Amino acid sequence: MRVLTGIQASGKLHIGNYFGAMKPMIELQEKEELFTFIANYHSLTTSKNAKLLKELTFDAVVDYLSLGIDPKKTTFWLQSDVPQVLELYWILSKFTPMGLLERAHSYKDKIAKGIPANHALFSYPVLMAADILLIDTQKVPVGKDQIQHVEITRDIATKFNNEYGEIFTLPEHVVNEEVATIAGIDGQKMSKSYDNAIDIFMETEKKLQKRCNKIISSSTPLGEPLEYEGCNIYNIASLFLDDERKVELQKRYKSGKEGYGHFKKYLKELIWNEFAEAREKREYYLNHPDIVRDILNDGANKMQKIADEKMAKVREAVGIL
Ligand code: ADP
Ligand code: TRP
Repeated sequence: MRVLTGIQASGKLHIGNYFGAMKPMIELQEKEELFTFIANYHSLTTSKNAKLLKELTFDAVVDYLSLGIDPKKTTFWLQSDVPQVLELYWILSKFTPMGLLERAHSYKDKIAKGIPANHALFSYPVLMAADILLIDTQKVPVGKDQIQHVEITRDIATKFNNEYGEIFTLPEHVVNEEVATIAGIDGQKMSKSYDNAIDIFMETEKKLQKRCNKIISSSTPLGEPLEYEGCNIYNIASLFLDDERKVELQKRYKSGKEGYGHFKKYLKELIWNEFAEAREKREYYLNHPDIVRDILNDGANKMQKIADEKMAKVREAVGIL
């Protein structure tokens, strides 16, 4: 099964991103033919600063490699390294009725938030369709906000295929309902926009401890048993624990011998240890940008072959000499 995931580089990754999106993706590469790319042309639609876009793009590449995207198993590339996608985007535009884009929620939401309307923002779903259709994607794992974009892709592909024959594979979206929404330090959905996130890559253990100390907990005095159910510290800690270790932690809560401060320390250790290997890899990649470039070039070369083959068929079908 050919699976495609596209990632917009949007800054520091937090634990919600990890458990909600990255871990399931990293597990996928063991089972499926996974294609993963950093969608920097898409990020351009909302970028204001060239330097920042470059940094965010590079950081996203490094973060994904460090956290477990394995270029030996997964085709991993940068969107802008495969410009064939822009040719397909143009050709697909001809099969995209205005009304289809005018109905796109994500466009309407962005305009409502005050982002100035421009053509790139409006035609964003056509570029996403090109990403998906270029490589005959069968499944696209997405968050709920992106389902409509996969539906738009199907509509465009159907219109094309009806006129020119079965050139494109119709993709399906996959929403992982099992993945729970991870709560932040205030108990609300963890999000970089709510200032309630715990980042995966904190610079120092001390800073991570400070962040964990900010987790809102109730104020049971030391010496009394604590309730783990509904406790933000417990909820985050349990993401890192198997069933046996969860029960151990529950016992510690009930024993009354420890207070929230102890559990915040314990949580810091869990997080710090979980990402120890990723942190080392990240240091390595940050210090070896040439190696990162080589990995991206390998991915782009693989993609170029697939893209050229597909584009030859598409050009032939529509009559581009
Ligand atoms: P944020 O809300 O911090 O801006 P994004 O919208 O960039 O996060 O999300 C990137 C990916 O991480 C998406 O697939 C999204 O579903 C997942 N994700 C983000 N926050 C959470 C969370 N709190 N719990 C589970 N998954 C999350
Ligand atoms: N629009 C997606 C997002 O914001 C990113 C993306 C771009 C994508 N192209 C894609 C996702 C193709 C899946 C397939 O999350």
